[in-house]
Amino acid sequence: MQREQQSPVLVTGSTSGIGLAIAHAMAKAGYPVMLHGLLWPEEGETLAREFRDSYGVPCRISTADISTETGCAQLVADTREALGNPAVLVNNAGVQFTANACEFPAEQWQRILSINLSAAFYLSRDLLPSMRDRRWGRIVNISSVHGLVASEQKAAYCAAKHGLVGLTRVLALENADCGVTANAVCPGWVETPLIEPQIEKIARDGNIDLEAARARLIGAKQPIAKATRPEAIAGLVLYLCGEYAETITGAALPVDGGWTAQ
Ligand SMILES: NC(=O)c1ccc[n+]([C@@H]2O[C@H](COP(=O)([O-])OP(=O)(O)OC[C@H]3O[C@@H](n4cnc5c(N)ncnc54)[C@H](O)[C@@H]3O)[C@@H](O)[C@H]2O)c1
Repeated sequence: MQREQQSPVLVTGSTSGIGLAIAHAMAKAGYPVMLHGLLWPEEGETLAREFRDSYGVPCRISTADISTETGCAQLVADTREALGNPAVLVNNAGVQFTANACEFPAEQWQRILSINLSAAFYLSRDLLPSMRDRRWGRIVNISSVHGLVASEQKAAYCAAKHGLVGLTRVLALENADCGVTANAVCPGWVETPLIEPQIEKIARDGNIDLEAARARLIGAKQPIAKATRPEAIAGLVLYLCGEYAETITGAALPVDGGWTAQ
């Protein structure tokens, strides 16, 4: 089934990095967009206005903190009030913290699990009924290669991203009868602020400059030793919302320079 014209899109964590690129791609393609992320309200309003001016589509923002169920409910309420029920939900917001498991602080474990995994569950649970009613919907979960394979020092991140792939598969099966698909995108390294602390740590530990540290980080895992552009992830999300993707569901799609082919 073709999507309805003007289906609103909610992209969590769309004030930066991959989410921002997804929001640009969706607005450019004519979707009304609900932006979301941790910005000061005035900064958020400026960003939403820039989207409306650039793309001529309805665009609003919520700055709800989605690290709790209440925060997720706030985001759902903000979105419904601003644009109505979204037909596309992109669960993209995510955070990172690295340490060996035996030293991993409990508050970082909770923070990563709640933002990277539980928020996707709460938002999907609350928004699926209206997608089912309209018999068209798309859930795209931005997981990671760390939803498919592991790396040291990423206990919470790997647990959350593997969990997100599992959640995606369940949502795909439960909604296969009504035009709603659910897929996970699994990027390797992407050029965004999220990876900067890891690059800085390698530079500090190895006493090398940032460019050398960036090359070392990416080359250690990816046969194509090049970070993916956020716009490339956005292009895949747009494809998953398009007419040719109607039978793609329950997939976990790597965009990783060959990382998981090894
Ligand atoms: N950058 C990479 O190399 C890479 C690789 C694989 C997967 N990912 C995943 O892609 C997604 C986006 O990552 P990115 O690199 O663009 O990150 P980023 O740091 O550039 O952006 C993160 C976004 O999430 C929002 N956010 C964080 N905590 C929040 C909270 N508690 N409540 C509301 N919003 C919150 C931020 O405001 C921001 O908009 C994440 O899920 C990340 O795990 C990133």
